[in-house]
Amino acid sequence: MIRLHDKEFVPYISNDEIKNAITKMARQIEEDFKDDIPVFVGVLNGSFMVVADLATKYHKDCEFTFVRLSSYDGVKSTGNVKRLIGLGKGLTGRSVVVVEDIVDTGNTVLELKKLFEKENVKSLKFATLFFKPEAYQQSIKIDYIGIDIPDKFIVGYGLDYKELGRNLQNVYQLK
Ligand code: IMP
Ligand code: MG
Repeated sequence: MIRLHDKEFVPYISNDEIKNAITKMARQIEEDFKDDIPVFVGVLNGSFMVVADLATKYHKDCEFTFVRLSSYDGVKSTGNVKRLIGLGKGLTGRSVVVVEDIVDTGNTVLELKKLFEKENVKSLKFATLFFKPEAYQQSIKIDYIGIDIPDKFIVGYGLDYKELGRNLQNVYQLK
């Protein structure tokens, strides 16, 4: 058992299982993309571990970049309008694979889809290490899923509870 801030977490998914799941995703993406060169776009902060492992498992040509999804802090701070930070290089005409650590309700995926479509990409796919089918409320297809999990809170391997736990190599579930 581990403690982060005020909460206790129990071991749930091992690093071996995670590595296997990411290897499978890499093989699927390689097969789907054939000679097309994907740009993997990691969504910070959570995806840094997934992207790093995907990079070691993906054996064909590919590119990497990272974005952060931020609430737009313009004059009207509605809190709902989102924007992408960090898209320095244009993705026009590129085959983009957005890499997420976890997809829960799907609100983030919906925002990302809207924002990436504005970039005039050639194709847009979503990859996530963890997916909560019971919590998902969107109809957007998640193209590559590492591991389906129940609707319970997890930490580790990039995922945090109030910013702690991201550096854990295994994944833990709220006790
Ligand atoms: P969404 O509900 O799919 O939009 O997910 C929103 C965000 O909530 C994710 O990108 C994560 O940062 C966070 N999140 C959702 N479920 C978990 C969890 O089980 N552990 C840690 N963070 C989570
Ligand atoms: Mg996240």
